[in-house]
Amino acid sequence: MKIIIQLCVLSLITLFVSIPLSSAGESDQYQDSKNLYMTKFCITCHGQQGIAVAPNYPNLAKQNKLYLINQVKDIIGKKRTTKLTVLMTEHPVINSIQDKEIVDIADYMTNIR
Ligand code: HEC
Repeated sequence: MKIIIQLCVLSLITLFVSIPLSSAGESDQYQDSKNLYMTKFCITCHGQQGIAVAPNYPNLAKQNKLYLINQVKDIIGKKRTTKLTVLMTEHPVINSIQDKEIVDIADYMTNIR
């Protein structure tokens, strides 16, 4: 009987400790997408929190996901060209980015917290 009570107390403690941890912790998907945003160099121009580092660069944070996906594809595919899109099209890492990576980064930017 004593052991059962101890087990109940232990599991209750585990429950209370794990609830705040799991809600405060970032999901694996969120973390993976965040890493992509950094390792694919987006962060260098579009900023740590998706707020651009220069006034003529766009902020991406909280933008619509589908819009972000379409813009990256258009810029990389040279359908959207401005004086500044060369910054992305001439970058070897960015211009070889995969569709799945674009979607994940867009998802991260839309949901950034
Ligand atoms: C060297 C700087 C630089 C890097 C690195 C860069 N971008 Fe950009 N990006 C720009 C600039 C500048 C523009 C604006 C181009 C224009 O004036 O049309 C832009 C435009 C965009 C847009 C369109 C935004 C809008 O509001 O229309 C998206 C989306 C975007 N970039 C995503 C990305 C992603 C994702 C990465 C990483 C894979 C990335 N960029 C890396 C400079 C950069």
